[in-house]
Amino acid sequence: MIGSRIGNYKILEELGRGGMGVVYKAVDTGLDRFVAIKILADQLTAKPELLERFRTEAKAQARLNHTNIATLHSFEQAGGRWMIVMEYLEGVTFEQMIERRGPIPWQEAIPLFKQALMGLGFAHRMGVIHRDIKPSNIFVCRTGYVKVMDFGVAKVAGARQVTRAGTRMGTVLYMSPEQVESQPVDARSDIYSLGITLYQFVSGHVPFESDSDYQVMNDHVKTPPPPPTRFYPHIPAQIVGAVLHSLSKNPRERFQNCEEFGKALDAHEAIEKKRGTIGDPRAAAPSVPVAQPPRPAPPPVAPPQPPRVVAPPPPPPPRPVPQYVPPPVPQPPAQRPVQSLAVSQPPQRTLPQQPAPPQSVYMPQMQRPGTPHPTYPQGFATPQQQYAPAVPVQQSKNSASYMLTYAILGGIGLTIIIFLICLLAGAFSD
Ligand SMILES: Nc1ncnc2c1ncn2[C@@H]1O[C@H](COP(=O)(O)OP(=O)(O)O)[C@@H](O)[C@H]1O
Ligand SMILES: [Mg+2]
Repeated sequence: MIGSRIGNYKILEELGRGGMGVVYKAVDTGLDRFVAIKILADQLTAKPELLERFRTEAKAQARLNHTNIATLHSFEQAGGRWMIVMEYLEGVTFEQMIERRGPIPWQEAIPLFKQALMGLGFAHRMGVIHRDIKPSNIFVCRTGYVKVMDFGVAKVAGARQVTRAGTRMGTVLYMSPEQVESQPVDARSDIYSLGITLYQFVSGHVPFESDSDYQVMNDHVKTPPPPPTRFYPHIPAQIVGAVLHSLSKNPRERFQNCEEFGKALDAHEAIEKKRGTIGDPRAAAPSVPVAQPPRPAPPPVAPPQPPRVVAPPPPPPPRPVPQYVPPPVPQPPAQRPVQSLAVSQPPQRTLPQQPAPPQSVYMPQMQRPGTPHPTYPQGFATPQQQYAPAVPVQQSKNSASYMLTYAILGGIGLTIIIFLICLLAGAFSD
């Protein structure tokens, strides 16, 4: 296949294999541009009525002209094979990101996910339901743009999807309860599949995993999903809440559209900004108790320096001097042990708010040891840096007030001592 020509297209390399066929990178020799060609498996196009439905779906997708949707160029037949010709994308899918890096830090995952919400929200407003939302159908381009792919194709393929040899069909992991029960679906079915996608993006796991497709489908309908913090604890409570809301079994209880989903995630960002704790995983809703790491000891307070006295008189005979006992140190709220948080908590740090990295420089890639984190190039701290111990602002203010108190008390004490010496000296001279 590689190197061969199909119509105007010269096949260059295989990009991947999915449930409906093989995807190739090709060059459109007429227009001199790269394209991705999905050659549909023969059994999917054998029946004329199926072919007609594919064409209808392709027409619907071709109308979707949006930054966050992969452009469909054509649906055509060449060399006896039916194929979908689409925009060639360079980058990685959400699925590949998760495979390579595990859970994606929410600070990075949420902005990418929100782009997918924008693409899908546009499609819904245009009356197109995706029906096969999953991490492998969401692409993060080198340019930083996120693109949703493969609209509507699953609707036509339905149960006829071809299982890849040795792999599971995959789609059942992201199916909505109404899809499992073969009920009519609307945009809210995509919301559910998006919820599973976000769940996996931030935790590295899907909520329902089993070797049995039947079990997974049953779980979609009946089993409440465990919170994603079971798999990865550092997910803020608001994000956990949004994910679980999108996974409500009853479509009426989910977000009703992508905008609502996006607003819930925006609200989370606003809360974090107000708290001034962006990057602080304390807000994560714990599900499984994890041992608390020891809290860092507060930095030592510098001992008070006595005021300098020129030519001090000889010290008087030792007298019992009352010891200064400092008042109890008011602890900043974040330092108090939080009983309800049973999850492993790195120390809190108040971070200055950083501008988001410009999308144009975003380049998803694997992080190698010793190299800067690829997605925090503009002064964003890596999670390790963000969670490193730091001196809270409140504490350094306390240190300053101690110094002042010690200085004043020291001065008073010294004055009393000098006064006593003078008294004694006067008494002896008499
Ligand atoms: N337009 C595209 N540009 C670049 N790569 C693509 C494109 N479409 C699909 N791919 C690659 O081909 C793989 C298989 O795609 P697909 O047949 O849709 O199966 P699935 O979505 O089930 O993984 C994808 O995971 C992706 O890596
Ligand atoms: Mg796909």
